Amino acid sequence: MEGLADQTAAIIMTATSNASRRPDPVTPLLLQALSGHAIARPPFWFMRQAGRYLPEYREVRAQAGSFLDLCYNPELAVRVTLQPIERFRPDAAILFSDILVIPHALGQSLRFEEGRGPLLDAVRSREGLAGLSGAKFETTLAPVLETVAGVRAALPEDVALIGFAGAPWTVATYMVEGGTSRDFATVKSWALRDPEAFGDLLDMLVSSTADYLCAQIAAGAQAVQLFDTWAGAVPAGAFERLVIDPTRRIVEAVRKSHPHTPVIGFARGVGVRTMDYAEQTGLDAVGLDSAYPASEAARTLQPRLPVQGNLDPAYLHVGGEAMASAAQDILDALGYGPFVFNLGHGVQVGTPPEHVEALAEQVRNWSGAA
Ligand code: CP3
Repeated sequence: MEGLADQTAAIIMTATSNASRRPDPVTPLLLQALSGHAIARPPFWFMRQAGRYLPEYREVRAQAGSFLDLCYNPELAVRVTLQPIERFRPDAAILFSDILVIPHALGQSLRFEEGRGPLLDAVRSREGLAGLSGAKFETTLAPVLETVAGVRAALPEDVALIGFAGAPWTVATYMVEGGTSRDFATVKSWALRDPEAFGDLLDMLVSSTADYLCAQIAAGAQAVQLFDTWAGAVPAGAFERLVIDPTRRIVEAVRKSHPHTPVIGFARGVGVRTMDYAEQTGLDAVGLDSAYPASEAARTLQPRLPVQGNLDPAYLHVGGEAMASAAQDILDALGYGPFVFNLGHGVQVGTPPEHVEALAEQVRNWSGAA
């Protein structure tokens, strides 16, 4: 999307002109790992590293009003993106936003209710699709791109900035169900009954997501991650159509404009399909959920591409010896190849920040030689 990039060009120029005059920075460890290098001390970051488990987040969140107001307020969104960086010194920041800003920017109504999660006016037919449009796409997302530029300008050079979006299938589940779902009955029945109309929805999401990720990269994101949180709900026979194909098209579009920016794919719950997902989409790296055995990933996936993961966030909640030993096993299995240490899903609400600090310390001090 030319417009999105143009619109933010001025902001980016102002935000980064100081940074770009400095001598060439060292390549951040995250980018070294994502380009296929084994790093003596693997880089790490945590999915949902900014959020309600941090008291300083809750403070800013209260100031912002609603969660969506926070996502669209660059000054506050920059602050909450940086909060975990200041506390834990991970190797990457992830843009503070949400995967549902895309349907919102396409004109679907969206609100977040305490305890209920996201609520959308469900789109369930071709007529519903016709109500969506790109008319306000750029103006709605402009503040998010301003956040990207602001974060990049504020980050130390050795800390990489990760942009993200939801993968089309996962975003479609929220658009069609109207929120979080247990069984995905409505979205699955549409996808399986009427592949053509559902394909139009996926097409719309593929092109808007690719444009949005390219705009994030133009604004300063150095890697991007596609979250396919509900990929595990797709039947095997539809996996190629609903998960692989849309992801591959986004990877191709991003690579065409930004050939050197790595794309990480995180398809949760796909187990033995992970290799197909990685290879048939052209992703640069693959994120693993906590059910995926690290030793198996080291044997099969890691010789082909960098992997990221996969400590169960429940261990982070528990802390202590149980957490340390589970993290050690993952580091010992995957730390000798191209690897980004992370969780297998997002940090849980109620996780003590001291546990996150202890885990960060452990990963930083891990040494394969020891
Ligand atoms: O730190 C980070 O990881 C960056 C920020 C981020 C958020 N959401 C902030 C958020 C990211 C990367 C996401 C991705 C996201 N959003 C996913 C994919 C990853 C995953 O967790 O599976 C999904 C499925 C969503 C959709 C979504 N957003 C739901 C279902 C909910 C409600 C559940 C909840 O935790 O409240 C959200 C809200 C949300 N997104 C919050 C945050 C910090 C909490 C809202 C609040 O502060 O009130």
